[in-house]
Amino acid sequence: MKIFIDTANVSEIREAVSLGIIDGVTTNPTLLSKEKGTFREILIEICSLVDGPISAEVVSEQSEGMVEEARELAKIGKNITIKVPMSTEGMKAVTILSQESIWTNMTLVFSPSQAILAAKAGARFISPFVGRVDDMSHFGMDSVRQIVTIYENYGFDTEIIVASIRHPLHVVEAALAGAHIATVPFKVIQQLVKHPLTDIGIKRFQEDWEKVTKKTS
Ligand code: G3P
Repeated sequence: MKIFIDTANVSEIREAVSLGIIDGVTTNPTLLSKEKGTFREILIEICSLVDGPISAEVVSEQSEGMVEEARELAKIGKNITIKVPMSTEGMKAVTILSQESIWTNMTLVFSPSQAILAAKAGARFISPFVGRVDDMSHFGMDSVRQIVTIYENYGFDTEIIVASIRHPLHVVEAALAGAHIATVPFKVIQQLVKHPLTDIGIKRFQEDWEKVTKKTS
């Protein structure tokens, strides 16, 4: 499974890249709003840190505006991927952009029906959100499992990026479901590393090694 980091914070991206696990980056207007600098400055810096797909979202509500924004965003870097919210106007934009070989990531996907349409429109990626569904006391990962099955049934090339991840189990469940990618907040990446038994084991080995080094024969 590929792991993208879900942030526009370049320090978090730099640290996560040093772990050797990052295959791409997803941003959105909310994540960009948290960072200093213009969205262009931030995206240029992110492109210098990661070779994989880097998602940047359009905000126009009409397909013409979406396509214009996308063409400008695509000039920032060869790996810029255009995030387009799921809608009829978004589908029109994705159809045009896919014909221009501009990678798209159809986002704010919450149902298998939306996922079917996004794949048929030519989206390179889709982002089904799980955390926001869980927040409403429903099982967000159920849609992911259904989308994986549907995409396998028909051989869709569109890659599934499980998004709106809240905790490590979302990452595990995404992998168990067979999703292509999980886009993971930095805090959750840090949580994925940790296990109390690992910490206990490291401490015990260090304590026992002290005994080894104290031995004279
Ligand atoms: O990539 C989409 C993700 O950033 C949304 O996460 O926590 O706002 O639901 P969240």
